[in-house]
Amino acid sequence: MSWSEESLQRADDILARYPEKRSAVMPLLYVAMREDGYLTDDGMRQVAELTGVTPAQVQSTASFYNMYKREPVGKYLVSMCTSISCFLMGADDVLHAIEDEAGIPAGEADDEIGVEHAECIGACGGAPACLVNYELIEGLTPDKAKELVAWLRSAKPDVINADEMQALFGGKTSFDWGIREERGAVGPFPAFGPFGTADVNTDALEPGRST
Ligand code: FES
Repeated sequence: MSWSEESLQRADDILARYPEKRSAVMPLLYVAMREDGYLTDDGMRQVAELTGVTPAQVQSTASFYNMYKREPVGKYLVSMCTSISCFLMGADDVLHAIEDEAGIPAGEADDEIGVEHAECIGACGGAPACLVNYELIEGLTPDKAKELVAWLRSAKPDVINADEMQALFGGKTSFDWGIREERGAVGPFPAFGPFGTADVNTDALEPGRST
C-alpha cells in the first residue's frame, strides 16, 4: 500500500458505503488521482486491490471516462467548453487566448497548467464558460482568459474557488447562484465531500455575477 494515511482512510470510508466493494471503483479512482496528480498504473492497481477486481477491469472503467486523466495535467487544469452555446459566444477565441497565454496547445500540459477543450459543462446560459480544476467561470472573454492564466502562473493559488475566479475574471452568468462557495478544489481532479477540497475565505469577494 503506497497511499497516504488520509487516502487509505478515505478509501475505507468510501468502501463502507457500498455492499459490493467493486461498486467503489469510480470514487476510488479519484482518490488515486489525488495521490499522484493523475491516474497512474500503480494507482489503478491499488484500486483493484482494494475493490477485489482485476487491474484490467479498473483500467477499462478508467479509460471510458474523460475526467480520469492518464497523463499529468499540471497543477491547474483549464477546461474550455467549445460546445454549441459557448462556440456561438466566442469560445474558440477564448480557447486560443488561453493557449497563447499558457504557451500550451489544447490537449497538452506543462508542470503548472494543462489546457483542454471540453464538451458542454452545463453552464450554457453563462457562455462562454470554462472550468479550472472543475471550478466554474462564466462569461469569459479572450482578454479575461489571458488574465486568468497569468494569475494562475503568478499567484499559484493553493485552492481554486469558483466565486473568486468569477469575481476576478468572469462576466455574465447563467443566474445568480446565491450561495457562496466556501470551499475550493485542491487539484486537477473532481472533488467530492471534504475530499479534494479546502476552505477559502470569500468574505472579501464581490460576487462579480450578474443575472
Ligand atoms: S455549451 Fe458551453 S456550457 Fe453548455
